[in-house]
Amino acid sequence: MKYGPLLFLGILFTLASSWVGLVLAPKQQLGGLVPNVSTNALGAVVLYPQARKGEAQQGEEHYRSLGCVYCHSQQVRPEGFGSDITRGWGKRRTVSRDYLYDKPVMLGTSRTGPDLTNIGERQSDSGWHFAHLYNPQITSKGSVMPPYPFLFQLRKIGPGGASTNALKLSGEFAVAEGWEVVPKDSARQLVEYLRSLKTSVDLPEAPLPKVQEGAAK
Ligand code: HEC
Repeated sequence: MKYGPLLFLGILFTLASSWVGLVLAPKQQLGGLVPNVSTNALGAVVLYPQARKGEAQQGEEHYRSLGCVYCHSQQVRPEGFGSDITRGWGKRRTVSRDYLYDKPVMLGTSRTGPDLTNIGERQSDSGWHFAHLYNPQITSKGSVMPPYPFLFQLRKIGPGGASTNALKLSGEFAVAEGWEVVPKDSARQLVEYLRSLKTSVDLPEAPLPKVQEGAAK
């Protein structure tokens, strides 16, 4: 073992340099990230991002467990690196700060469906989301997204009449007379999560595009 010490130093160097590259450097770059502080038009202090609360937070668990991430990404590429912004998936590129409170981060790698980074702004109507999750064919004919009917309950309409949150189903999707389809807690939580996905906030590292005066919206 004439080269024993040299071998030892070589292995030590290899492990130390990978530790610096994979642990220390990212920690230096991202470890100190904090929410951005700004003031709104009324002068109130606004923090972005904020941790999800209540149903939206519970909904994130459903999003993860139902495998939505296998078909939907949550990352908007910068202009010049694809057409994400032109497609309306976000007003600006996403940056690491956007994911500060996401554990785990639902970046996704496959885009069988549209990117959902900004779906809360693009589609804020819960009724639309319920119908779409119950059966994507209702809102988006020909969609390859699977239906999630188990997030809903089919039940007899009670003596008080139909529930206010019952799905408005007609034509081929209608259920038998006297029955209704209502979202379970899981559907409500998932939709609150989807509605919470919004990134149109000005950040120093990713400013929103300036709206030109007089330009059409
Ligand atoms: C097999 C792939 C696949 C899976 C799994 C999937 N989706 Fe989709 N999703 C799609 C496709 C394709 C579309 C576009 C057509 C449509 O609107 O249905 C879509 C559309 C959407 C839209 C509307 C996006 C827009 O820009 O209008 C939302 C919201 C959505 N999916 C949420 C979900 C959620 C939540 C889950 C998990 C419960 C999920 N998807 C699972 C493929 C998928």
